[in-house]
Amino acid sequence: MTPKKTYEQLRSARWMVPDDQRSFGHRSRTMQMGYDPADWEGRPIVAILNTWSDAQPCHMHFKDRVEWVKRGVLQAGGFPMELPALSLSENFVKPTTMLYRNLLAMEAEELLRSHPVDGAVLMGGCDKTTPALIMGALSMGLPFIFLPAGPMLRGNYAGKYLGSGTDGFKYWDERRAGTISREEWQGIEGGIARSYGHCMTMGTASTMTAIAEAMGLSLPGASSIPAADAGHQRMSTQCGRRVVEMIWEDLTPDRIVTPASVENAVTVAMATGCSTNAIIHVIAMARRAGIPLELDDLDRIGRTTPVVANIRPSGSNYLMEDFYYAGGLRALMKQLGDKLDSTAITVTGKPLTDGLDDVKIWNEDVIRPLTNPVYHEGSLAVLKGNLCPDGAVIKPAACDRQFHRHKGPALVADSYAELKKIIDDPDYPLTPDTVLVLRNAGPQGGPGMPEWGMIPMPKALLKLGLRDMMRISDARMSGTSFGACVLHAAPEAYVGGPLALLRTGDMVEMDIPARSLNMLVPDEELAARRAAWTPPPPRYGRGYGLMFSKHIEQADKGCDFDFLKTEFGPKVDEPAI
Ligand code: FES
Ligand code: MG
Repeated sequence: MTPKKTYEQLRSARWMVPDDQRSFGHRSRTMQMGYDPADWEGRPIVAILNTWSDAQPCHMHFKDRVEWVKRGVLQAGGFPMELPALSLSENFVKPTTMLYRNLLAMEAEELLRSHPVDGAVLMGGCDKTTPALIMGALSMGLPFIFLPAGPMLRGNYAGKYLGSGTDGFKYWDERRAGTISREEWQGIEGGIARSYGHCMTMGTASTMTAIAEAMGLSLPGASSIPAADAGHQRMSTQCGRRVVEMIWEDLTPDRIVTPASVENAVTVAMATGCSTNAIIHVIAMARRAGIPLELDDLDRIGRTTPVVANIRPSGSNYLMEDFYYAGGLRALMKQLGDKLDSTAITVTGKPLTDGLDDVKIWNEDVIRPLTNPVYHEGSLAVLKGNLCPDGAVIKPAACDRQFHRHKGPALVADSYAELKKIIDDPDYPLTPDTVLVLRNAGPQGGPGMPEWGMIPMPKALLKLGLRDMMRISDARMSGTSFGACVLHAAPEAYVGGPLALLRTGDMVEMDIPARSLNMLVPDEELAARRAAWTPPPPRYGRGYGLMFSKHIEQADKGCDFDFLKTEFGPKVDEPAI
């Protein structure tokens, strides 16, 4: 390590060093916590943003794991300062964590700005926590490492593996079809999530932590370590040690997150089978670093990057635990060979591709070679057309191939309540080619773009033995979902996007190879419907929701708040002390 900074040049020294009354206060209050000057003098202060809470099962271990981070910080001569941050549990936070991703991003940025810290370890992993913490820390610009929570152990019931989300959805369809007893259902309930850690399918959590690592923001190999593996403690301590060095080296995120590192992150995401949610987050993260990533870039990279991680839901059998045993994300990167840009560096200060030659792939059925992929191109496709001029996304790898080219009549629901009436009625008149549409579920309409996009199969089709159909919404879907679901239609219906003009009975045509999605309605008719359309009433009259509605951007722009964007205004000054 070559130090580039002296102690006096550290940011925290402004709080701790001057011989004045304010610094007297900072020092005496540090002593109030039981420390003496030898604990902090000459040492960088490391913020540890901890998203632990009693409402966050995926981060349950962070209460303990933070001690391992502190241990590393202390070993390297730093002073740790744990700062709790919003825990954003996917399961408990309503109406959806997506409503609050930007709130956590703001919290992360302002926690770092307002406290006497020189760098940070960000502890996250459950879906939104990863992009939120990183977005905030990128905007603040201090050296940081992202510490991924790690996937939970495989689910298990009756000797069979269970995957988070994916198997819940699958067996719920069976339960609704009447093929699973109450006892079996309860067994699945107790077996599907049996340790701390984030969802262990290749859902949003696993995709986002893979993206963070591929972008260079985690220690190499960190994102694949299961939460319950002792390697996770060791990695936590290493994060603590390394961030102290990064502070001395002044290894700020603008040196790590570059167009090359973003390209690497997207390539790796595509090769994992990539949650659709990741698209929104990776766009938002890149834009915080001043890199104008677009949906078209994702489609371009996707077309030439095969899915090589054979993990549910895109893959057939395996889960994140198997992925780790097969060599983890580093092994996947090795399979990608020269698709990765070797100029991008990581928190280690070295190229992402450094050391990949020595990485072993232990199971080539789990982490496939490019010559034998799970799916021949990336798992996401971006569709455009008169239903979604700014784009919509679909996961062709996770849907029945017969829907890759599909034409059928629309059946439109304006709200989730309306949709429920359709899907719960075993005699509802619909056909296998029906295109089921849910609108007003976007960023503003949802509000917060809930994960309603994997619309449950209607009972009327389930009883015919069908398990997939074409569905369209302006919502998101859980990264662990599957099916012929078109998502994120932009602009959303609630703000007058063309999805608002679609009517039941209109023919809809999707062609995934051609990347198109259209309603077969003449332009004059659409113009007449547009003239007759009235905007729905605002969702919020006060509070955070009002701010959200006024400033949230559409899905194709990453759903950031306009005022948080890097280019929005002048850089925020350091606080007066
Ligand atoms: Fe936390 Fe899935 S619920 S990652
Ligand atoms: Mg999820």
